Order: sequence, then structure tokens, then C-alpha cells
Amino acid sequence: MLQSNSKIKSYALETYGCQMNVADSELVDGILKDIGLKKTEDLNNADAIFVNTCAIRENAEKKIHSRLGNFYKLKQEKPHLIIGVLGCMAQNLKNDLLKNKPYVDIILGPDSYRNLPKLMNRHMMEKNSIVDTKLSRYEVYEDLFPKRNEGINAWVSIMRGCDKFCSFCIVPFTRGRERSRSVESIVTEVRKAVDQGFVEITLLGQNVNSYKHENNSFAELLLAVSDINGVERIRYTSPHPQDINVELLEVMASRKNICNYVHFPMQSGSNDILKRMNRTYTKEHFHYMADKIREIMPNCGLSTDIIVGFPGETDKDFEETLDLMNKIKFNSAFTFKYSPRPYTKAEQFTDQVDESIKKKRLDELITLQKEHTLELNSKKIDSIEHVLIEKESKKSSNHWAGRTDSNEWVIFEKKSSNIKDIVPVEIVNATGVILHGKEMVGA
Ligand code: SAH
Ligand code: SF4
Ligand code: F3S
Repeated sequence: MLQSNSKIKSYALETYGCQMNVADSELVDGILKDIGLKKTEDLNNADAIFVNTCAIRENAEKKIHSRLGNFYKLKQEKPHLIIGVLGCMAQNLKNDLLKNKPYVDIILGPDSYRNLPKLMNRHMMEKNSIVDTKLSRYEVYEDLFPKRNEGINAWVSIMRGCDKFCSFCIVPFTRGRERSRSVESIVTEVRKAVDQGFVEITLLGQNVNSYKHENNSFAELLLAVSDINGVERIRYTSPHPQDINVELLEVMASRKNICNYVHFPMQSGSNDILKRMNRTYTKEHFHYMADKIREIMPNCGLSTDIIVGFPGETDKDFEETLDLMNKIKFNSAFTFKYSPRPYTKAEQFTDQVDESIKKKRLDELITLQKEHTLELNSKKIDSIEHVLIEKESKKSSNHWAGRTDSNEWVIFEKKSSNIKDIVPVEIVNATGVILHGKEMVGA
């Protein structure tokens, strides 16, 4: 509880970064609700503003600095306003924030959310900036349940941290070591989510498939979640290619409610670059596993992450990336220009690539991916897909929008079905990333 004379009655919470941050923000909502605070979307009405931050690329950090400038203006009008920086940037930038942004009252790393009420009280007593960015080897928030808004998909965090240390990536430094939650606590949380009306579960972790708790592997966890009544669909993100194996793929193929979709982050198609990235696989192995995924799960949706302009990436390396994309043909791709991050090994490399080359390569890659997406989506025309209706289409109130099992968005005219129904839809057209269809009534 906050001290009894506290003026803090309401809070706002902005979330940046990956789905782990979205899930963490739901935990923070649960903690703040338990101490009686009301959440508001209106920053002008908030007595405390928290921002859950991301440090993955420089741009992500820039955005937060500019948000903090806005919050500072509000604080000048409302001196009791508490400003808190949570998450990955807190961990990474605490010294900079303390020195250059003294109006930030609380700096809280991703393993310290339980302490938030205590630290708010301390700040109100001591009137100075309070920092808690200790990383824990154990914290998995096993007993805390997130406060979820009603919806279709519940994010369930199953492991935290990363031990892979890819040479470009800040996550092992901001999130600390890998640790997993028990199967029982995950199953309990999923049951609760189903009771609240959620039908799709997305299991989350920085390195989701290196999940290991006692003797339980990720594949075994998937089976346990798949057995829960009312779980219509299961997805997971973000896996590391090294931990995708045939056992896991066979488990996925064996259960109807585990989606035919794998996010398979390639990063580069050059063995030299993969080695310098410390990705632990070769392009040959990556290609082999991509084929294996589609062999075991025909029609499996395959998405990827690719970085261009990693230090030392030559034209030839980049050509190899395009070549591997052409061989595999992903359904979709998240593409990034390499951004040097503090603490990481790649930041020290002296052969950094020019910004203009990064931009040119990124454009080329995006153009190629668009072709692949359209080509693969066009092949679905005339097929029947099972679509989980998630919302009304943004463009038309007469149309539903939902996702296929393999993670493509489909728009189709409303008939008798409703949100949360899974309905057969005949695909009639493909425009870029979106499929258009016709619901098969009575099918
Ligand atoms: N754990 C996940 C990725 C988390 S970060 C995995 O291993 O796949 C999501 C994506 O951001 C990464 O896959 C990578 O493509 C990109 N990324 C990470 N660090 C980056 C950096 N320094 N510059 C550019 N992109 C980066
Ligand atoms: Fe970062 Fe690599 Fe860990 Fe993914 S596996 S979070 S890219 S260090
Ligand atoms: Fe960003 Fe942290 Fe996620 S750095 S991508 S919010 S793990």
C-alpha cells in the first residue's frame, strides 16, 4: 500500500518494445491495481506516469527520451507527479538518466517490478530519485498474475532472460540470465486466462524455446498447454533457430490447437557474418531446418528477422542473404538496420558499415520480401483457411479481420459469425500482406 497521505491515486503506463514488455506491463498493472491505483489513459489526469522501455536499437531509445521531455513539462505543472522509467532502458541507462534527467523519480529494471509500491513510498519520503535495477537469477513472477484486458489473445511469459549473447544484441545485458517458470504455474495462468474468455495463448520468452524447468522441455510444456480445455490456439515467440528441433516440430504437427507458424530468425545468409554474430548455426543448417519445418508442417507460416549492415558485411555477404531469402521464401520478415549497442561485442568491431549502405540494403531487402509475401499469399487463393475472428476491419464495419492458423490476416464480409469464432474462409484475393476471403456458411 502507498502511505496514507499519498497524493498518488492514478497512473498511466506507456509500453514500448517487444511482447515481453507488453506482458510485463500487464504484471505492473496487476501490482498497481492491488495497491488501489486507477489506471488512466489521459496523461493530464495521472499522478504517476510510467514508461516501460526498450533498448534494442538506438531509435527505440530516442523515442523514450522525447516522451520523457513531454512528461517533464507535465511535472512542472503538477509537482507531485511521479515519473518512472521501467524495463530495458532503465537497466541500461540508469547513470545517464540520473545525471541528465533528474526529474525521473524511479528507475526500475525488469526484475524489480514487485518493489514498485515500496519504491514509490521511498521516493515520496526521501524526495530523490530511486533506482532498483538489480537483475535476478530467479525472478520469474511465478505467483503474480497479470491484469489482462478482455480480448482474444493472452500473452503468457514462460521464461525470462537470454544466455545466447549474439554479438549485436543488448538483451542479455538488459534482461539478465535465462530462467523458466514451472509448468504448473504456467498451466494455472493459462486456465485463468481461458476462464476470463481468452481463446488464443501466446507463450513468450526472449528465447522461448530454450525453456527448461526441472526435466520439462519446451515441447513438453506445449503439450501441457495444448491439453487445457478451451485453448483454441497456441503460438509462441521468439525462438532461436538453435533450439528448434524435430521433436518440437512433431509435437506442433500432432496437435490441432498448436498453430502452424514458426518465427525463424535468420539474421544473415552469410556464414562469415553469422559467425561474427555468434548465431551458432550455419546458413546450410538454417536452410535445412526451414525445409524440415515445411516438410513436417506443410503450409506452415514462416517469418523471420534479418539485420543488414552488420559490421564487416560486404556486398557479397549481403548477396548471400538475398540468395538464402530467395531459396527459403519467408511469408513475412522483420528487417532492421544494424544499430550498435552498448556492452555488446559488435559495437567494438572497427569495420562498421556506412549508414547510406545500410539504407540501400534495407530497401532492397524489403522489396524482395514484399515479392515473396505476395507470391506465397497468392498461392492461397481458392484454398480454405480457418480464421479466428479478432476484430472489425479498420476499413469497413461490414467486414471482419482475423488470422489464419499460419498467421496471415484475412478480411471478409460479416455473416452470422462473431468475434472469437473460428470459421472456414475461402481465399479470393491477396493484396500485399492481406488476404481477402469469403466466409463459407454451412461448411
Ligand atoms: N530473441 C530473439 C530476438 C529478440 S530482438 C531472437 O533471437 O530471435 C528482435 C530482433 O531485433 C532480432 O531478431 C534482431 O533481428 C533485431 N536486433 C537485435 N539487436 C539489434 C541491433 N543491435 N541492431 C539491429 N537489429 C537488432
Ligand atoms: Fe538477443 Fe540473440 Fe538473445 Fe535473441 S538470442 S535475445 S538476438 S542475444
Ligand atoms: Fe526491447 Fe527489452 Fe524487448 S530491449 S525488444 S523491450 S527485451
